[in-house]
Amino acid sequence: MRIMTGQVARKENFWDRKRELNDVWYKIDSGNHVLLVAPRRVGKTSVMYNIFDNPKDDYIVLYIDTESADKENEFWKKLFYRLMEEEFVNTLQNKAKNLFNKLKTIKIDEATIKGIKFGDGSELDYAQAFKKIIKELDADKKLIIMIDEFAQTIENIIKYESVENAKSLLKTHRELRQDSAVSEKVTFIYAGSIGLESVASKIDSISTINDLATVKILPLEFSDAKEFVTLLATSNNIDIQEDEITYLLNKIEWKIPFYIQLIMDELRKLEGRIQAEQIDSSFESILDNRNHFEHWHSRLKSLADNEYQFSKEVLNTIAENTIITSNKIVNIAEKYKLDDAKEVIHSLVYDGYINNNDETKEYRFNSPILKMWWYKNVTN
Ligand SMILES: Nc1ncnc2c1ncn2[C@@H]1O[C@H](COP(=O)(O)OP(=O)(O)O)[C@@H](O)[C@H]1O
Ligand SMILES: [Mg+2]
Repeated sequence: MRIMTGQVARKENFWDRKRELNDVWYKIDSGNHVLLVAPRRVGKTSVMYNIFDNPKDDYIVLYIDTESADKENEFWKKLFYRLMEEEFVNTLQNKAKNLFNKLKTIKIDEATIKGIKFGDGSELDYAQAFKKIIKELDADKKLIIMIDEFAQTIENIIKYESVENAKSLLKTHRELRQDSAVSEKVTFIYAGSIGLESVASKIDSISTINDLATVKILPLEFSDAKEFVTLLATSNNIDIQEDEITYLLNKIEWKIPFYIQLIMDELRKLEGRIQAEQIDSSFESILDNRNHFEHWHSRLKSLADNEYQFSKEVLNTIAENTIITSNKIVNIAEKYKLDDAKEVIHSLVYDGYINNNDETKEYRFNSPILKMWWYKNVTN
């Protein structure tokens, strides 16, 4: 097993996330559509690729990242072309003959998709085209369509097209899922680096996603994380003993595979048996690499200016004092003339910065590593 820091962990480099995968497959088998929920870097895309790389017998899997779409119709266009892509269609030849034949003939039979033009006749209405194809599928296997960075797509559409189009996209998805002729043939799985709940609630559209079965991707449990570290150590010639592994994991605290990978990548460069002091200095080194964490900060910069200033001050306060109380949050909100501070706090929770799991009226960082990074690079 190789150390991966950044790329999706696939095949032999994927640490088996049994609980999550069983849960996802259970939900797929029972006819649900799934929302994978976890902050960025916890491992959603890797879980999706595992489903893609090892589908159960009765399923065909399509993966698409739609982050670059910033118009409603562009989303559907991407999905439509992904479905029709030569590379995907050809993989069906041995696995799903009917589906293969169908997609092949649609490809030839342009007439199938013609006539679904927009009113002005300018461009194809790809949502309609997509729906039409799905409904006509006489598939031998069920299609799983995994849409990554979906919330980001919605946010892009809000920003670069309109709130109406964003709402409409969420609504069309809901309609597709509710349509039994579609649901019989397709399972949708959505994920993204920002919370779909926070984006949908911002535009009053929570009701369009409340039919989704959510599966939380969690940090690793201690014993699981220990096995993971041990395996990475042995397969990469890192000489580390049990006490030091425990020390390392306690220091990481929020044990997501990504942080484990980052530390192991530092330890890999050292000679001899790993000591606690070397673990300490490895933490320092990973905090110096802006690339690993900067997206947490830049994400907030896309908020409205007063929301950004508010979020920054809230996180600065937590970075300095470990916690922030609801009262203090109210004060900061007043300072920046924020009407809906609750909404912003919710999105900080959904997007994985902070939680109030211990005490309802107190928020803290999920991850001490992010907290340290924030303190070093943003607060100061
Ligand atoms: N199951 C896993 N096994 C090994 N490494 C993982 C696993 N899941 C995540 N990682 C590590 O975490 C990083 C982020 O994972 P990714 O799946 O891209 O997260 P997300 O999509 O939630 O942002 C990967 O580059 C990899 O280093
Ligand atoms: Mg991802």
